[in-house]
Amino acid sequence: MRIGVVNAGNIGRTLARAWIRKGHEVMLAKDGNLEKLDAFIAENPNALRGTIAEAAQFGEAVLFSVYWPRLDAVLDAVGSLDGKLVIDTMNPLTVNSDFEHSYDGELMARSSTSEELQRRLPARAW
Ligand SMILES: NC(=O)c1ccc[n+]([C@@H]2O[C@H](COP(=O)([O-])OP(=O)(O)OC[C@H]3O[C@@H](n4cnc5c(N)ncnc54)[C@H](OP(=O)(O)O)[C@@H]3O)[C@@H](O)[C@H]2O)c1
Repeated sequence: MRIGVVNAGNIGRTLARAWIRKGHEVMLAKDGNLEKLDAFIAENPNALRGTIAEAAQFGEAVLFSVYWPRLDAVLDAVGSLDGKLVIDTMNPLTVNSDFEHSYDGELMARSSTSEELQRRLPARAW
């Protein structure tokens, strides 16, 4: 299967490593510092690297492992995910002006990151 990893952070890279071991084709994209992917690509030469839009387009399945405060910005880059399987690992973190993080209790009481992602996606994959 072709899998797009939208944000190859700690979790995204860990899952990508396991999927590559199982013979899946993986394209990794990253928000933030792109150089953090260099070591992974060197160790996993079968892995592809792309932009967020390219990884989302590449995948029959797309992993969303995004830093929650960046979700809307990442979704702007993703484009249509119509017909694709979407996997979510996210936690609903909020961040204040002192860069302190906490869980968004209001969101967690009424919804979940997967439901929010579904609501915000440009086209529904479910
Ligand atoms: N780690 C866990 O144990 C765990 C468990 C369950 C769920 N989750 C959730 O799964 C998602 C991914 O987790 P992770 O541990 O893989 O995250 P991560 O490695 O810290 O970061 C994921 C991606 O978000 C970027 N990012 C992190 N902090 C950022 C910031 N302040 N501003 C802009 N970009 C930022 C990272 O870029 P840089 O590498 O350049 O910072 C990376 O591309 C998150 O929603 C997390 O809450 C994590």
